[in-house]
Amino acid sequence: MQIKTLKMDLSAVSATQYPTEGYPEIALLGRSNVGKSSLINTLVQRKKFARTSSTPGKTRTLNFYQINEAFYLVDVPGYGYAKVSKKQRAEFGVMIEEYLTTRQPLKGVIILVDGRRAPTADDISMYQFVSYYHLHTLVVATKMDKVKGNQWNKTISAVNKTLNLNQTDQLQLFSSQTKSGQAEVWQWIESQI
Ligand code: GTP
Ligand code: MG
Repeated sequence: MQIKTLKMDLSAVSATQYPTEGYPEIALLGRSNVGKSSLINTLVQRKKFARTSSTPGKTRTLNFYQINEAFYLVDVPGYGYAKVSKKQRAEFGVMIEEYLTTRQPLKGVIILVDGRRAPTADDISMYQFVSYYHLHTLVVATKMDKVKGNQWNKTISAVNKTLNLNQTDQLQLFSSQTKSGQAEVWQWIESQI
């Protein structure tokens, strides 16, 4: 994908604040700190377009990143972060659920999981949730720079088995550090928008 224009368009906590152009959207989902914001930066080849942090729980609103005046990548707050309060977690839940279940321009979701370990209970719940709503899904196992090459097959089978991936959904190994998998993730996004 050739990047011509980039805009951090807006942050939203509820439907009234979503963008109104009707551009297609792809949402990034995954546990706090798994690397959602980093994946966006890798895809658009910028270091600090989407905010990243070593402190989990940094992204707290739905952030709409507009690309080429054609579509949005939507950075969603990470789930499963212990330090946000119960009340805050419930609010996140409602916000994410509202977005995923009602948003017309949403064309697909990317669920990020940590390639170093099997998907967690939270990952499984999120995958089952989006499957139930028939959202087209790409599962990205990230931080693969931390996994030895001869273990990559293990990651593939662990993710496939733990999530019980539907045949229509794809799995891609990825690293924001080495950019491995970048072209394939773009290819999937282009096929959805
Ligand atoms: P929240 O916004 O809290 O939900 O986190 P996030 O999913 O957006 O994670 P973020 O992109 O901020 O990355 C979290 C940490 O993981 C940062 O320290 C990143 O540098 C690191 N990280 C992200 N992707 C990779 C990767 O592919 N490889 C390695 N080694 N580190 C990564
Ligand atoms: Mg983030």
